[in-house]
Formats: sequence, structure tokens, C-alpha cells
Amino acid sequence: KCIFVLADKQSKEKCDILRAVGAEVVVCPTAVEPDDPRSYYSVSKRLAKETPNSWYVNQYDNPSNAKAHYESTGPEIWKQTDGKITHFVVGVGTGGTISGVGKYLKEQNPNIKVWGIDTYGSVFKKYHETGIFDEKEIYPYVTEGIGEDILPKNVNFDIIDGFTKVTDKDGAVYTQRLAKEEGMFLGNSAGSAIKGVLQLKEHFTKDDVVVVLFHDHGSRYVGKMFNDDWMRKQGYIE
Ligand SMILES: Cc1ncc(COP(=O)(O)O)c(C=O)c1O
Repeated sequence: KCIFVLADKQSKEKCDILRAVGAEVVVCPTAVEPDDPRSYYSVSKRLAKETPNSWYVNQYDNPSNAKAHYESTGPEIWKQTDGKITHFVVGVGTGGTISGVGKYLKEQNPNIKVWGIDTYGSVFKKYHETGIFDEKEIYPYVTEGIGEDILPKNVNFDIIDGFTKVTDKDGAVYTQRLAKEEGMFLGNSAGSAIKGVLQLKEHFTKDDVVVVLFHDHGSRYVGKMFNDDWMRKQGYIE
């Protein structure tokens, strides 16, 4: 049996799909501090303690998360680019993807640059640049899947060369554009990732092989980024 604990900013489709395949879904408020007993961090931890014979996945601090990407996603990208990759760009939430893939790629070729996509309202970029965990940076934001108000153990800041922050509006608009202009029906963090690549373009030369990883499928966002009424209400489109 699975119990999934989510914040209420996550799309309704994510909850519906989980419930459709038999999972229990517990929805928690987004706009509370991480150590508030109502936060999804606290509730998941509590449920794991209260549920007999349960296993707490703890995707933020469980090193198996980054290890899975070190053993699978990293080698896949290395092989599929014939070792020609020069830059890896990816959204950062738990940090599992960037840390696992980044470690593997840098072991093959230390010159490969690894860039993280962050959101406004998240602590990652400033922490990476200054070592300061600035609580003043934290506010609830719309973008799903990336950015954090905590420092997960799965983020290995040492293998990350830099972060760029993408706005909620740009992430949403570029999610639509990927579908309409490129025929790629992908998630919200994919829109942020491709906008991040464009923001970083002065770091790339014509012969570079830049890999951007898209985490999610568009079907989970038909009530949001793929719904023009929602987009207008947010002020993202005219
Ligand atoms: C939609 C989406 N994008 C991006 C991410 C970020 O990936 P990671 O947690 O490996 O940093 C997640 C993560 O959990 C996600 O659900």
C-alpha cells in the first residue's frame, strides 16, 4: 500500500492519477513552515511513524534517490551522447537528479558543466553562491517540482556549477510553448528548464552538446498550464 503526501499547490491531476491506481493521497497546506506539523514534510514523517510496518521513502534526504540517477540516468546520457555532452541542465527539487547525474558525468569528464534550474521563492541559488540559507528568499510560488524552502541532503552543491532562477510566469508560458512550437507535451518544470537553458545561452558555444532533462508529462497540467482560463486568471497570458 502507498500513502502519498503532497502540498496543495500540486496539480489536481497528480492526486487523481494516484487515487485512480489505488493510492491514498494526503494533501497538506503549501503556505506553512517546513517544521510546522501541518507541512507535507512533517505529515509524511508522522504517518511513517504511526503506520505499522511502513517504510518512509524520504526522497529529500534518502541517498538512494541520487544513487538511482548515478546508476541509471547518468550513464544513459553519457552513452546516448557518445560522451560528447558538454553541459547538463536540469530542474532541482529534491536534488536527486542533478546530484546523481552530475556526479556520474563529472567522473567521466570533469570539464562537463552542471547547471540547476531554480525558482523565485526558493533558497538554492543564493545558498550555492553565498553559503547563506536566506529565509527572506522563501515565499509560496506556483511552479511545481523544483525549488525548495529546505536544503535536502540529496542536493550536492559541490558538483553544481551554477543556478539560474525562472519566474512562475515564464515557466508556465514556456510549458505551453514546448507543446505548441515543439510538439512536446511536458510538465511545468520542463517549461522552466527550457527557459533556463535560454537564460544561460551566453555560457554555450555553437559546438557544445547541451543536454536538458525534462521530468514530467503534460497530462498532469491540463487544469493549469494547458488551460487558458487558468493561464489568464494567473495573468500569464492576455
Ligand atoms: C515535475 C518535477 N520536476 C522536477 C523535479 C525535480 O527533480 P529532483 O527531485 O530529482 O531534483 C521533480 C521532483 O521531484 C518533479 O516532480
